[in-house]
Amino acid sequence: MNPTPTITWTGECVRLLDQTQLPARTVFVDIADEQQMWDAIKRLVVRGAPAIGVSAAFGAYLGVRNFGGDARALLLRLSEVCDYLATSRPTAVNLFWALKRVQRIALQASDDDSDPKQIKQRLLDEALGMLDEDCATNKAIGENGLQLLERCATGSSVINVLTHCNAGSLCAVQYGTALAPIYVGAQRGLRFHVYSDETRPLLQGSRITAYELQQSGIPVTVLCDNMAAQVMRSQQIHAIIVGADRIAANGDVANKIGTLGVAILAKHFNIPFYVAAPISTIDYDLRTGKEIPIEHRAPEEVSHGFGQPTAPKGVEIYNPAFDVTPSDLVSAIITERGVATAPYEASLAALRSSESK
Ligand code: MRU
Repeated sequence: MNPTPTITWTGECVRLLDQTQLPARTVFVDIADEQQMWDAIKRLVVRGAPAIGVSAAFGAYLGVRNFGGDARALLLRLSEVCDYLATSRPTAVNLFWALKRVQRIALQASDDDSDPKQIKQRLLDEALGMLDEDCATNKAIGENGLQLLERCATGSSVINVLTHCNAGSLCAVQYGTALAPIYVGAQRGLRFHVYSDETRPLLQGSRITAYELQQSGIPVTVLCDNMAAQVMRSQQIHAIIVGADRIAANGDVANKIGTLGVAILAKHFNIPFYVAAPISTIDYDLRTGKEIPIEHRAPEEVSHGFGQPTAPKGVEIYNPAFDVTPSDLVSAIITERGVATAPYEASLAALRSSESK
């Protein structure tokens, strides 16, 4: 598994691996307040739904740690900080899930003890707990997903998997979601070959997925997004596995732009299309994927990707960061509590009320 830590707490600040610099440079940035955290999330210094959630929890703590008021004023300040952090990115629901969670904890803490120092300590403890919880969750996703991947590749000595964007260790604290089954399997001596879509426009697939798999010694081949059909036709791809930024109650999946195209191709080539995500990525309040807010990012990400202009000046640019794959293209949703299959309303609802296995 990728040895480069995504998020660490130094005792004074949050240290983030700056993912905008990968793969050329491995640099870390220290985040000391909520504005710096907002900026880091917005600019994709830290990215990927689980990592955004954990970072936001730390951001909330950083935003109140020097606040001088009493418990009531502290809760109000926390709510302002959380509202502010919530404006950083709209699609990954883990951001909102984490911010709600820390506010709930602060409220409980204030009921137990009205000393603001104690409330702040509980917030920090919660964020620190989320670091460990994220690893355990993703490891369980890995176990559940591995069973599916092994089944798809019965009789083959190497399991060939195609993925899109980055849903590995670097989208989370460790293991990741879509790559977790691969890391868990590799630890047991299973062999994998990962085909990683480069993922236009910000190249999370080639910059980040390929980086972390290479660091982990797992064979990886990068392809341009428009080569996926050819790879599915010419290589024996046993399964496609991607992560998710938000999943509606009916199983529709918002993930990095381009995922929908991959899912349509998977259906054409009769390849299983799996989505791996923690329960915290399921938004049970949204009935279908039509309700998922989709982030649109700056046109320059398309027209000036990594330097040179790649489109004529002034041309109109379309740059949604995510698309929604309808649940009928999804073979299974792999969570830490088990695997959901169609009909998803029922299977996802059952996972909501079940314990992790
Ligand atoms: O814009 P990003 O890099 O934060 O988007 C992340 C993704 O969409 C990933 O594909 C991932 O599957 C979701 S995070 C597990």
